[in-house]
Amino acid sequence: MRSYVAAPAKRVGGELRVPGDKSISHRSVMLAGLAGGRSEVTGFLPSEDCLASMTAMRALGVGIERQGPTFVSVSGVGLRGLHGAGYPLDMGNAGTAMRLFTGLLAAQSFDSRLIGDASLMRRPMERVATPLRAMGADVRTEGGTAPVDIRGGRPLHGIEYALPVASAQVKSAVLFAGLYADSPTTVISPAMSRDHSERMLESFGVRIVTQGLRVTVHPARALAAQRIEVPGDFSSAAFFIVAALLAGQAEGLLIRDVGLNPSRVGLLEILRLMGAAIEIENERASGAEPVADLRVRASALRGIRVPPALVPLAIDEFPVLFVAACCADGETLVTGAEELRLKESDRIAAMSAGLTTLGVRHEVQSDGLRIEGKPAGAAFGSGEVDSHGDHRIAMAFSIASLRAAGPIKILDVANVATSFPGFVALACAAGLELHEC
Ligand code: S3P
Repeated sequence: MRSYVAAPAKRVGGELRVPGDKSISHRSVMLAGLAGGRSEVTGFLPSEDCLASMTAMRALGVGIERQGPTFVSVSGVGLRGLHGAGYPLDMGNAGTAMRLFTGLLAAQSFDSRLIGDASLMRRPMERVATPLRAMGADVRTEGGTAPVDIRGGRPLHGIEYALPVASAQVKSAVLFAGLYADSPTTVISPAMSRDHSERMLESFGVRIVTQGLRVTVHPARALAAQRIEVPGDFSSAAFFIVAALLAGQAEGLLIRDVGLNPSRVGLLEILRLMGAAIEIENERASGAEPVADLRVRASALRGIRVPPALVPLAIDEFPVLFVAACCADGETLVTGAEELRLKESDRIAAMSAGLTTLGVRHEVQSDGLRIEGKPAGAAFGSGEVDSHGDHRIAMAFSIASLRAAGPIKILDVANVATSFPGFVALACAAGLELHEC
């Protein structure tokens, strides 16, 4: 089992770029595969999760060539050109892949089976099966989890579906199935969630109508091949944002080309409420997505009550936000974040266990954490924490080392490669003292 040892480093600084956005990379190979003709994707994230989506699209008959580490050329087969893989499609650790493919495959003429690793096989899949069944699909789970079995050849009908939780994965699965329905399909979300699917479907020529939290997809005849530029992943940048807040040099850390989709940047707002100095520079559009450079300076943070409305907009950033909260003056309270229990690990339990080992006073709630920050000196002790195979827990505790009394050993870190290949090298270049062993 692979581990990190993160020793306390003094300073973080310089300039860096994080790898491409995971959510957008998944969607790029899926939709490009359904388009007619050749699409090109630049900035693709070559992580294990996104490679699982790429491998699955190939198994379904799409020609995909990697012309460089992050440059992908996709020969789309058209909306009705996929064929059955003939064997179970393995989504690895990727919840996004499993849920989006469930939507896509529910509309095909052939049968499919989706499986994943031990973590993914424990995650809830009925949330996506339920609306797809309402559309007429035949989707089965085993007691609510994968394997997901999909019988093809079912005509789909447009529905209006009110999502019980703000989930971009479920919304996207229904929208993808809606491409094939006999009438428009509307998804109503209880709160904003990432809208990469809507933006990308529109750029492929699909008619999407968004009115507040209601999004309607119109059945499509064809998708037009595209050139997609994938921006840097805000969720990967988040680790370096917090690192620079805790230990930045005077001129700050510059993180270039970060995707700043408004449905993703809740962490920026939360950190600013905590007193963070983060400047947005060079704002521009990268295809359908907004992008900018971020300059982050060391900041004295104060504890806050995190507004629950910001939770879905920062849902992947809580492990590292908890680390920031440990270094803030006063108490930070996160509530309304019960979805954290259903991620690659139970992120409330996994973070709490590590914080206990590292001597941070905190209280676990069913839907969040209350953390007592320590603004001066070492906020963390040293010791051995378990990432529970969760990439974001492993990276969050790596950042905690910047304010630790001694080295932190982080167990079970191989899954960092599911979202952030090259994390150790980039962290070391920024000034962290991180070794994999
Ligand atoms: C994602 C949606 C979110 C997020 C995940 C990626 C996506 O999950 O946590 O990392 O790409 O749609 P939920 O839809 O479960 O909130």
